[in-house]
Amino acid sequence: MDAIRIYGGNCLKGQTKIQGSKNASLPVLAATLLINGTCEIENCPYISDVFHMLRLLESLGCKVTREENLVRVDTSQLSECDMPADSVGVMRSSIMLLGALLARMGSVSMEYPGGCVIGKRPIDLHLRALRRMGVEIVENEEGFCAQAANLRGVSHELPFVSVGVTENLILAAVLAQGRTVIHPAAREPEIQILCEFLQSAGAGITGIGTDRLVIEGVQRLHPVRFHVPADRIVAGTYLTACMCTGGRVFLQDAPCQHMQSVLACAESMGTRIVCEKDGILVSGRACKCLDNGLVTACYPGFPTDLQSLFMVAMALSGHSGWIEETVFENRFRIVPELCRMGADITVQGARAYVHPTGGLHGAIVEAKELRGGAALVVAALAAKGTSIVTNRHYIDRGYEDITLNLRELGADIELA
Ligand code: EPZ
Repeated sequence: MDAIRIYGGNCLKGQTKIQGSKNASLPVLAATLLINGTCEIENCPYISDVFHMLRLLESLGCKVTREENLVRVDTSQLSECDMPADSVGVMRSSIMLLGALLARMGSVSMEYPGGCVIGKRPIDLHLRALRRMGVEIVENEEGFCAQAANLRGVSHELPFVSVGVTENLILAAVLAQGRTVIHPAAREPEIQILCEFLQSAGAGITGIGTDRLVIEGVQRLHPVRFHVPADRIVAGTYLTACMCTGGRVFLQDAPCQHMQSVLACAESMGTRIVCEKDGILVSGRACKCLDNGLVTACYPGFPTDLQSLFMVAMALSGHSGWIEETVFENRFRIVPELCRMGADITVQGARAYVHPTGGLHGAIVEAKELRGGAALVVAALAAKGTSIVTNRHYIDRGYEDITLNLRELGADIELA
């Protein structure tokens, strides 16, 4: 079955290793298209989104080999620039190949990547910004063809911060003619990691970590070997598992420096956090309320990807609280499922109001998307009795082996 069975109630103890970052690996893999030769990417997570990205690269003529978490991408035989519709449909993040393919091949045709349950996720900003760099884009019902004889550097003043648009513009700019300025640029760690990868390959990027990136186009980049840091959202997921069940866990490799807003919230809710050089020590249940609620924001604010996870912690804290989602328009899909487990949560517009109940009970619940699915697993760890979380394939998009990681921490969990 495409499900996970959890028998709740165990306090988590022990340690588990945090996988490489999904949202850093995907743009780094896209960036290999800019480099003629073979790049080696270490600590690439074994997840379905990476699998789809590698298939897309192969469909474009790249030679891809994999030894566990080491991925080699040889782009010297890059030949295609039409992305297969089935992969684009499955992999929304295929849009981040756009900038790199235009820079390397000068043309791309692709279907519009689908939306998803958390929001429409349009690509209007991507296309508008690329047009300003000299890209001709002809759109039709299903998708578009983009051509760019020569990409030219321009100054972008974006209407709001977008991680994907920032990534696409960086990839389009590093080999463009002249200087590109991106403002406001997203400051997420994944953007910084992408810039570090490109810098190591010879790109001219300054302002890394700030909201103003300046990119001086260069003639070419050279192949590199690069290590992807650990996934801050996966680390945050297992952090909330300890917040909800109590106990004491060590999250090996967890990137403390990329999780400050998350750790601050966890401590405000009563969980103890100790950042060590090779990970994070987490202990104690979250049993306090967040006086000022929780508002998601772009980095360094609280990450939208952990919003559902902290909703679960709030529902189990024994106090009332509220969460405001400011990034995506439909990211409360987990609420009805949590209510089936005994939570008392009401949604009004962009806010979810969480009220205390006597705890959660096991139920059969349905994952509707990646992070909401992980949050249901965390809720089941603290619920009384047995839960089944269906649609496990959503969770597999971003977690190498959530059952193994949680079993290592003492959870009673198995594939169903
Ligand atoms: C990235 O998505 C992440 N995905 C998301 O993680 C993450 O939630 C999001 O950034 C915000 O941090 C990857 O990195 C693969 P955006 P992205 O462009 O780039 C709107 C996960 O669970 N927008 O910053 O798509 C958009 O609809 C995933 O790992 C436009 O309107 O996010 C959203 O409301 C979920 N027009 C807002 O901007 C555009 O052209 C921010 O989206 C582009 C975006």
